[in-house]
Amino acid sequence: MKDFWNQRYTSKEFAYGIEPNDFFRHQIDKLRPGKLLLPGEGEGRNAVYAAKNGWEVTAVDFSVKAKVKANRLAFWHQVEINYIVESLENADLPENHFDAVGFIYVHLNSTDLKKAMEKILESMKSGGVLIFECFSEKQYGRKTGGPKTLDRLYTVSQISNLFSDLKVSYLQEEEIPLDEGEFHQGRGMVIRGVATKP
Ligand SMILES: C[S@@+](CC[C@H](N)C(=O)[O-])C[C@H]1O[C@@H](n2cnc3c(N)ncnc32)[C@H](O)[C@@H]1O
Repeated sequence: MKDFWNQRYTSKEFAYGIEPNDFFRHQIDKLRPGKLLLPGEGEGRNAVYAAKNGWEVTAVDFSVKAKVKANRLAFWHQVEINYIVESLENADLPENHFDAVGFIYVHLNSTDLKKAMEKILESMKSGGVLIFECFSEKQYGRKTGGPKTLDRLYTVSQISNLFSDLKVSYLQEEEIPLDEGEFHQGRGMVIRGVATKP
């Protein structure tokens, strides 16, 4: 998968655009800036938006090409982000550290997702907020974005199980219009969630 992503990011264009994801922007704007973790952050659109708004951002992604482009975007906007090139399953994250997490369109198989999410939840402070938007299983077969195989698409009950130790304030499967770069275009079936660590 790492090769797939490095290949995708060889283009000069930003695959998902340079504007932040709408749901992420809407939710992060409600929070007081602190330390933010962005797993699978890709080319840095969410990281740069948050850094411009006072967040101290750590991004983790296994694509070195993504890091190069994220750093370019950060440079254009005169902000800094801490970008770690590592797989989410193996990343060494600090415990009880982050005030917020943005898990946006990161699609792992169920074993890796469970492993990654456990680490992510451990890395959050008490009171930390997790913002989540990913494609649901109902996106399968649509050509508007996301994985082409069911094993990397999510169900509400799967995500609800992963959030079982959190206070979930929002968790919905929704059909939304997507307009994010070349690869998220048209109507998509997504799961959106917001949950707080007790
Ligand atoms: C669809 S892109 C989304 C990027 C970003 N979150 C956004 O919304 O623009 C998915 C990203 O997850 C990263 N990724 C996928 N699997 C990963 C893994 N196991 N460990 C680390 N990064 C991963 C890819 O390299 C890619 O940059």
